[in-house]
Amino acid sequence: RKAKMSSIIERYKDKVVALPKNVDHHFCKYEGFWHLQGFWYHSKADFSVEAIMALQDEFQALPTDIFLTTYPKSGTTWLKALAFAIMNRTKFKIGVDSCPNHPLRTVSPHDCVPFMESDSFLNNPSYANGLMATHIPYTSLPKSIISSDCRIVYLYRNPKDVLISYWHFLNKFKDDVSTPTKLDDAFELFSKGMSAFGSFWDHVTGYYKASLERPDKVLFLKYEDLKNGPENKVKKLAKFIGNPFTQDEEYDGSIQKIIDLCSFENLSEVNKGRKQSSKILSDDIYFRKGVVGDSFNYLTIEMIQILDKITEQKFGDLNLI
Ligand code: A3P
Repeated sequence: RKAKMSSIIERYKDKVVALPKNVDHHFCKYEGFWHLQGFWYHSKADFSVEAIMALQDEFQALPTDIFLTTYPKSGTTWLKALAFAIMNRTKFKIGVDSCPNHPLRTVSPHDCVPFMESDSFLNNPSYANGLMATHIPYTSLPKSIISSDCRIVYLYRNPKDVLISYWHFLNKFKDDVSTPTKLDDAFELFSKGMSAFGSFWDHVTGYYKASLERPDKVLFLKYEDLKNGPENKVKKLAKFIGNPFTQDEEYDGSIQKIIDLCSFENLSEVNKGRKQSSKILSDDIYFRKGVVGDSFNYLTIEMIQILDKITEQKFGDLNLI
């Protein structure tokens, strides 16, 4: 297992050395996006540029594959849970009495749907069962994902909440390892497009444009819409991923059961305080508040104005906000 990861790092060493770098903050620029390098998992290829390069060279998508795509901290965990619960609702019936052992009641959504750029996926791609997640920017996706015509779901979240969620995550992640990042610094880097998986705005734009060009293959959802009216969006998601709810299911409360199972309250409780020895991160690091607009409790008015201005400039004609 280790050999595969170190061989990936070794294989792309020269290519990575030649990339533009920001050494102070551990970034390197690949295909127009700044990526965090050599920070998250130190010697592993997980979530690194090498992992993206290896996938670009080797990964073969099938037309039946479904990719859940997000910019980090946009609700990936939630989307994984929803898609997994929808796809597997015949096997694992929902409702406390009918399926107390539903995987989402016992393990993290990240164990149900793997990230394709993760160590475990790179070592054993077949365990994904056709449902995979990724943070890779649209333009850097392995070509076969586009050419095989498989489906892509993108979950968008407003940038201010993404930044605050990311900043908290970064500092939880850094606990005991190094000094916390100040909000000013996180803000500065985020505004310049230096964050895990590059510029938030360019990331969103790539997938958004793809959803306009190929609406039957790329579904664009918003975190805020899911929060405000989950039922319609969950129905839309189920239909898009080829598992629409039947009329009976619409009447018998199945949609609501899935929403409840995947709610922040339920999932954060299931994953509370759990750390599996094989993992670097504890399962509860993905759950903080799960609300819309928490960024207003942290950002200064000036920061808000700057972020809003960048958003306006970057998304100008896209009708995205
Ligand atoms: P906050 O930090 O604002 O609370 P990701 O899964 O992409 O890493 O994103 C994490 C963010 O999604 C965190 O946001 C987290 O609390 C929130 N989140 C996780 N599970 C959720 C759920 N079931 N419903 C709503 N939000 C959720």
